[in-house]
Amino acid sequence: MYRVICIVLMIAFASAQSKLYYEEKERDTIDDETEALMKLLTLNAVPERYRPLQYFQKIGMDIGGRVKSFSWSKCGGSLAEITDMAVTPDPIALPGTLHIQAKGNISATSIDSPLPATLEIKKKAAGVWIKIPCVGDFGSCSYDDFCEILDSVGDCPDPIVSSGLGCNCPFKKGTYNVPSVDIDIPYGFPSGDYNITGTLHYQNQLAACLNLMLTIS
Ligand SMILES: *[C@@H]1O[C@H](CO)[C@@H](O)[C@H](O)[C@H]1NC(C)=O
Ligand SMILES: *[C@@H]1O[C@H](CO)[C@@H](O)[C@H](O)[C@H]1NC(C)=O
Repeated sequence: MYRVICIVLMIAFASAQSKLYYEEKERDTIDDETEALMKLLTLNAVPERYRPLQYFQKIGMDIGGRVKSFSWSKCGGSLAEITDMAVTPDPIALPGTLHIQAKGNISATSIDSPLPATLEIKKKAAGVWIKIPCVGDFGSCSYDDFCEILDSVGDCPDPIVSSGLGCNCPFKKGTYNVPSVDIDIPYGFPSGDYNITGTLHYQNQLAACLNLMLTIS
């Protein structure tokens, strides 16, 4: 009798232990997934242009789909558009100075506050684009008013002032050419390939949309 009770107690104890173990393990797994994803996105990744052919074979990705250089494209919007753009150095080195050249036009009489904006930032990991979440106003976020953000940025670089565009709302109808502007970025950013899409809305319509593919080294 005594032995039976002992065995039953041992089995009960063992199963309770293993239940605890699995519950513990389940929790760990979920936490690790979130953490692993954030870690993946904030770690430095070797840009695809520097990867050997074997890497693309290993992940089963066509080498033709890799990010090879800075590129931009329009993605809609009827009130303003970029017609030409170049960014150097390519890959972008941070911290550092970005040289930007851009041409564009605004067809609306005036674009003014409020200008709701969205940003979507995706980073490539093992050949797959992963969206960076919005954390503390940084990442793939929505903003109430782009004009307000511009107001909080410091001095407007000379070439933007002399192009007539300026750095603050309202923006007036016209064709603008910013031949070269240097922007100092004092902080680093995890290296890798990025797909960034920005939109501006004005009076409930999509005013402008720009997509950038870029590499940070
Ligand atoms: C910008 O200019 C180009 C070329 O002149 C024109 O085709 C386009 O419709 C203009 N876009 C806007 C939003 O004014
Ligand atoms: C980049 O992201 C945009 C927006 O999600 C998407 O439409 C586009 O196809 C992406 N580009 C590439 C090359 O994956």
